[in-house]
Amino acid sequence: MNEEIEKALREFHRWGFAFAPTAITATAAQLDLFLHLESPITPQELAKKKGIPIRGLLRILRALARLDILAEEGNTYRINPTLAPLFSPSSPFYLGPFFLHTWKLQERWQELPQVVTTGKPLPRGEDPDFPVTLARGLFAVHWLQALELGEKVSIPSGTVLDVAGGSGVWSAGILKSHPQLKGTVLDLPQVVERGAKPILEEMDLLQRYTFIPGDMFQVDWGQGYSAAILGHICHALGRDEILWLMEKARTVLTPSGKLIVIDFLTDPQDPFSAIFSINMLVATEKGDVYALEEYTQWMEEVGFSTPKVIPMKGPWKSAAIVATPA
Ligand SMILES: C[S@@+](CC[C@H](N)C(=O)[O-])C[C@H]1O[C@@H](n2cnc3c(N)ncnc32)[C@H](O)[C@@H]1O
Repeated sequence: MNEEIEKALREFHRWGFAFAPTAITATAAQLDLFLHLESPITPQELAKKKGIPIRGLLRILRALARLDILAEEGNTYRINPTLAPLFSPSSPFYLGPFFLHTWKLQERWQELPQVVTTGKPLPRGEDPDFPVTLARGLFAVHWLQALELGEKVSIPSGTVLDVAGGSGVWSAGILKSHPQLKGTVLDLPQVVERGAKPILEEMDLLQRYTFIPGDMFQVDWGQGYSAAILGHICHALGRDEILWLMEKARTVLTPSGKLIVIDFLTDPQDPFSAIFSINMLVATEKGDVYALEEYTQWMEEVGFSTPKVIPMKGPWKSAAIVATPA
C-alpha cells in the first residue's frame, strides 16, 4: 500500500469513531461527573458518591484522561487544571451543554438517509430544553469571537438588540468593550430565564440588560436601537424568513444603526460549511449555510447599504456582516 493510502486509512479509522469523544464527554456531563472532579477523587469514591458501578465509570474516567480532559494522578482523577474554565460546571464557559447538544444532534443525523430521500427533516415533538442547552453550550464556543467583534465594531451609544440572542453572547462581547452601551436579548422565554439571565449575571453584565421573552416573529421588538444582531439564527431559516427579520431589524434601528449578521459562510476550502449545511438539513425545514453574496443581496434588498465583513478568528469560522440603513 502506498503512503497516501495508508495516511487516508488512518484518517478514515479516526472518522469511524469520531462520535466517541462527544458521547463520552456528554455522558460525563449528563451524569454530573465534572461537578465531583473539580478536586482529585478516586474512582471508588466517585462511584460511591454517584451510587453507580465502577465498571463503566472507570472506563469513562480513563477515556477522559486519555482525551486530556482529566488529569490522572496516582489513583485519582480531576479536571485538567488548564481546561478548568471549560469543564467546571460552575464556570459560564462550561462546555457540558455544548456536548449534550451535539450528542443529541446525532439522533437527527441517524435519520440522514430518510431526510435525503424525502428532502425533509423527520417530524418530532417540541423539546423546550433543546434551545436552552444550545444557547448555554454556544456561549463558551462563541465568547472569544464575541470579544473580538466587540473590539472591532464601533457603536458610539445606545442599546444593542440581540435577536434570537440565546445567552446574549454576541451583544455581551460588544458590551464588554463598550461600557457606555446597554443590551436587550430577545429569545424564547425559557432561553431568557435559564440561558441568558444566569450567564449574563455570571459575566457581571445583567444590570445593563433588558429582555424580550417570546417568539421573534410575534413579539414587539421595541424601537430606536443603535445595533441589531442576528447571530447564528439565519442558518436555521429560509430566504423569506431571513428577509423578514432583516426588514424588521431596519425598522427598529436608528438611522445610523447597524445590522450585524453573524453566521457561517459557504467556503469551498472548508469542509465544515458543507457539513453544517447537512446539520441544517436534518434539523430544520429550510435552513442552510449561505454565501456572503446572498447575505449582501438580501441586506441591500431590504434597504441596507452594501455590507462590510468583519472576519473573526476563534474556534468556529463565523463572519460578522455589518450594514447601516441606506
Ligand atoms: C443557534 S442559537 C444562537 C444563539 C446565539 N445568538 C448565539 O449565536 O450563540 C439560535 C437561537 O435562536 C432562538 N430562536 C429560534 N427560534 C426563535 C423564535 N421563533 N423566537 C425567538 N428566538 C428563537 C433559539 O432559542 C436559540 O437561542
